[in-house]
Amino acid sequence: MDILKRIAEKREREEKLAWEGTFGEYIEMVRERPELAQTAHSRVFNMIADAGIEKDDNGKTRYLFFSRELFGLDRAIERLVEEYFHSAARRLDVRKRILLLMGPVSGGKSTIVTLLKRGLEQYSRTDAGALYGIKGCPMQEEPLHLIPQSMRPEVEKELGVRIEGNLCPACRLRLKEEYGGRIEDVPVERVLMSEDDRRGVGTFSPSDPKSQDIADLTGSIDFSTITEYGSESDPRAYRFDGELNKANRGLMEFQEMLKCDEKFLWNLLSLTQEGNFKAGRFALISADELIVAHTNEAEYKSFIANKKNEALQSRIIVMPIPYNLQVTEEEKIYEKLVRQSDLSHVHLAPHALHTAAIFSILTRMKDSKKQGMDLVKKMRLYDGKSVDGYKEADVEELQNEHLDEGMSGIDPRYVINRISSAMIRTEAHCLNALDILRAIKNGLDQHPSISKDERERYLNFISISRKEYDELAKKEVQKAFVYSYDESAKTLMDNYLDNVEAYCNWTKIKDPLTGEELDPDEKLMRSIEEQIGISENAKKAFREEILIRISAYARKGKKFDYNSHDRLREAIQKKLFADLKDVVKITTSTKTPDENQLKKINEVTATLIDKYGYCPTCANDLLRYVGSLLNR
Ligand SMILES: Nc1ncnc2c1ncn2[C@@H]1O[C@H](COP(=O)(O)OP(=O)(O)OP(=O)(O)O)[C@@H](O)[C@H]1O
Ligand SMILES: [Mg+2]
Ligand SMILES: [Zn+2]
Ligand SMILES: [Zn+2]
Repeated sequence: MDILKRIAEKREREEKLAWEGTFGEYIEMVRERPELAQTAHSRVFNMIADAGIEKDDNGKTRYLFFSRELFGLDRAIERLVEEYFHSAARRLDVRKRILLLMGPVSGGKSTIVTLLKRGLEQYSRTDAGALYGIKGCPMQEEPLHLIPQSMRPEVEKELGVRIEGNLCPACRLRLKEEYGGRIEDVPVERVLMSEDDRRGVGTFSPSDPKSQDIADLTGSIDFSTITEYGSESDPRAYRFDGELNKANRGLMEFQEMLKCDEKFLWNLLSLTQEGNFKAGRFALISADELIVAHTNEAEYKSFIANKKNEALQSRIIVMPIPYNLQVTEEEKIYEKLVRQSDLSHVHLAPHALHTAAIFSILTRMKDSKKQGMDLVKKMRLYDGKSVDGYKEADVEELQNEHLDEGMSGIDPRYVINRISSAMIRTEAHCLNALDILRAIKNGLDQHPSISKDERERYLNFISISRKEYDELAKKEVQKAFVYSYDESAKTLMDNYLDNVEAYCNWTKIKDPLTGEELDPDEKLMRSIEEQIGISENAKKAFREEILIRISAYARKGKKFDYNSHDRLREAIQKKLFADLKDVVKITTSTKTPDENQLKKINEVTATLIDKYGYCPTCANDLLRYVGSLLNR
């Protein structure tokens, strides 16, 4: 069976990765590859860098490690990687701080931490991310800790590495008792990180502050062996199994850190500052690990408002993780969440998620003071669309106008929850943009953190989103009608070109039926040109430009067709649609279509389904909706 085979293969792979040797052998490996002895921070940074870094034309950096899972957070991630991970990897002072991700609910904080954790587990299984620890050490500590302080400067120079930290109490005792001080004989093994195995990756989650023990963090006395060894300061009578021990060499996630009792935080102070912590009756224990916590803005503000927390504050580095502010990226988030949920069997009509995304982004943006700017324009600019009168540089200016933009508003999970409740309630097989907007609107009353004023603002955003959708819906139907009328479009264009040719060459046109010689049909030409705003004064230049294009095509032996000139095609489509408008209006809104109308409706429906991703339900909904819009 395939699954069993896969399991066996996985086991084999892990067995192949396993390595065991002596400290002597390890030293030789480090001599060849000093990066084996890098710090946890440096390993995490290299893991991120190794996944790939892309630079775009504007000099923006994108880290593939995060960007495959997280959408629209490139700016925040860039800052996080540069200011924290990169600096920490270079042993700058930030390494000695706890990393605190601060952002609104469901903004991706936990996702970032999970990516780092799962990433480390994998990276430790690659050559580039390989690491080794003293075999049997409860903290899988760096074997170089075995080297006595006095010899370190010499060894560091020889191997090209830095050695930080001291042997843990357990290893110290074993070195003495088991190996008689012969450090070269101490066994070393490859460390494969795994949160499940509690190796290199851990999570600390405070429970009831009254009952919780610091032991969860730093380990505890082993009451089963204490009588045997007689003393609490014998490492054999101590279990180094706190989360800080277990996450050594890797990463510990600290959940709800700011809600945590102070005594837990004080322990972290020394760990972060000096790289060691106090456990039981032992000398300070060295640890090399990344501590990541997360919080929301309100919680953080009340934390810093408390004077008692000042010392801690200076040991925390806060990285804002705001919501995404790009409509297209928001759609990707929803697509991902829908895929992961039990919604995947429902058909989501084209533009449904897009419309919901417009609403969410509107709730997250802040008004700009820039002249002539409004939220819809800002939304387009943020999404990389062009807006008349604004440039790329304006986007940057807008982004810097409010430092806390994206720290509030509607969260992605809310939208997904509303979609599922809409689905369950109606037992629908298909939801369109309007269904989703309605569901979002109905949910606003129950949303726990929306004030009355905000609700008013949000209702306004719902109607803006709907207007945006109306435009999209009309265009879509127009496209589908024109598509079904492809032949008419071509005929209309040929007709136009014949007339333009005659006009430019001062010749006449021959009527194909009667053979009669006619003047060029000015009315026809103008009716097309007006569709794209070509004025009476500009018409001559436009016609000549087209003629030049035709002869340029002819010289190259290419055929000038419907798709050869974008503006002309647009004009033709619009003209056709204007002519069709009445047809659309009538066909889409009549309750009892005649045979001819029915045929047209069926053709357009088929186009919507075959070409534009609709299902029969939402295709019909769309036609009826656009019909009612056109009749207003
Ligand atoms: N920018 C984003 N790109 C991709 N997915 C996102 C993004 N923001 C949120 N999500 C998704 O939304 C869900 C909630 O995100 P996550 O749990 O990471 O948020 P959080 O910030 O930890 O929230 P909380 O404060 O509630 O703990 C996740 O499934 C996550 O993948
Ligand atoms: Mg979370
Ligand atoms: Zn040890
Ligand atoms: Zn559908």
